[in-house]
Amino acid sequence: MSKGIYIKTFGCQMNVYDSQRMADVLKPMGYAATEAVDGAELILVNTCHIREKAAEKLFSELGRYRQIKAANAQAGRLTLIAVTGCVAQAEGEEILRRAPYVDIVVGPQSYHRLPEMVTRLTRGERTSQIDLDFAPEAKFDQLPANGSNVPAAFLTIQEGCDKFCTFCVVPYTRGGEYSRPFDAILAEAHTLAAGGAREITLLGQNVNAYHGTRDYGTAGLGDLIRAVAEIPGIERIRYTTSHPIDMSDDLIAAHADVPELMPFLHLPVQSGSDTMLQRMNRHHTIDLYRSIVEKLKRARSDLRLSTDFIVGFPGETDREFDDTLAFARDIGFIQTYSFKYSARPGTPAAILPGQISETVKSERLAALQQVLEANQHEFNEACIGRTFPVLFDRQGKFSGQLIGRSPYMQPVHAEVPAQAFGDIVDVRIVSAHTVSLGGEIVAHLPSRADQYSTPRRARA
Ligand code: SAH
Ligand code: SF4
Ligand code: F3S
Repeated sequence: MSKGIYIKTFGCQMNVYDSQRMADVLKPMGYAATEAVDGAELILVNTCHIREKAAEKLFSELGRYRQIKAANAQAGRLTLIAVTGCVAQAEGEEILRRAPYVDIVVGPQSYHRLPEMVTRLTRGERTSQIDLDFAPEAKFDQLPANGSNVPAAFLTIQEGCDKFCTFCVVPYTRGGEYSRPFDAILAEAHTLAAGGAREITLLGQNVNAYHGTRDYGTAGLGDLIRAVAEIPGIERIRYTTSHPIDMSDDLIAAHADVPELMPFLHLPVQSGSDTMLQRMNRHHTIDLYRSIVEKLKRARSDLRLSTDFIVGFPGETDREFDDTLAFARDIGFIQTYSFKYSARPGTPAAILPGQISETVKSERLAALQQVLEANQHEFNEACIGRTFPVLFDRQGKFSGQLIGRSPYMQPVHAEVPAQAFGDIVDVRIVSAHTVSLGGEIVAHLPSRADQYSTPRRARA
């Protein structure tokens, strides 16, 4: 009989990918994913350490799981609790001190060891298991085939970061930059396509720093995108997250050459002020960022961008913040993530003078978000009347409704026959909301079999 594993995922898309891979690695032991936490034999919390709030969520979740574990124990059932991901890596021992009922603590580079740790505990070993090694190559070598069967899949190609932005914990939680071998990634992309993926998002903390080995020399992200685009069934490619200094000319050229590459790019800038960028150790200026945007738009004129901003970084003056506002207005990002600076233990910025008060951070965030939301709303309104290919991959709120993504990642809801789930369908946009769009199908809906038999390039 299969045992239930309940997985709660916080943080970035890489954590979503990792959660899938942890389920894959435990599957041969009889574990199958469940939505019912009470009945699960293994509760796994995959955590994020990027901001204080994200990290604190772990402890409130754990309190709930402790009660479930105790109730199950009274009924004679063993429930294991595992903490994985970036908080595990950063605070491993501390987690066991604060929450001694946790059975397993495993960092992002060691989750291939989960089966061994689970086996020890189910065989009666009483001590908590902890593994915080940094060796991504060992992890990827030992993982079974990716068992994801979703229309829009994630695929980690690169992990870790050597950039050391002064606010960021990632270089400490994910370790140094590591690129997976080219052929291993292609093999996984084929597996995802066979499992029904129409879209693949290539993931990395600095995905465009990718430099994987292949038979002859190394390959960059542009080479990888071109190779993934040749895989039958794969009609859409995205990549995230990129760093401005690694936007090579070859990668920019891929935006012109590869029709499968979506005309939408997340390119974090963090601030619109050069002095701030310097204090953040971002390695790029505003001029460099602007020149990349220009090159990208020359390569593909319909390309649009999203970005990340941090407000209230130590020492941020009114003038520096005004530069950020002006820059945000000027570039016209169509989606944005903006955050209040959160001081993270062990990072250089946490001990910089000039820490900004919560009140000022909140005011600045509200002012910035007003500009960003206006940009987003303006773009969404301008989509009314346009026809977009939409990849439907979620059930809608109402019966007969599906939700999918436009090329620009906008959620689009429409009344669509249920068999369109997992297909890319032409949809005319009829309404725009702050975040999402409403649409109506315009194209004849091909069956899945038709889609597979139609030459991919001919349909593009
Ligand atoms: N590798 C990516 C993103 C990493 S984390 C990059 O290079 O941009 C995702 C986002 O979280 C960052 O872009 C940043 O905007 C935000 N972030 C990271 N550390 C933060 C901190 N200490 N406080 C607030 N936001 C932070
Ligand atoms: Fe963090 Fe900077 Fe690395 Fe991105 S580039 S993961 S923000 S240190
Ligand atoms: Fe969070 Fe780790 Fe991702 S800190 S954003 S889960 S890399």
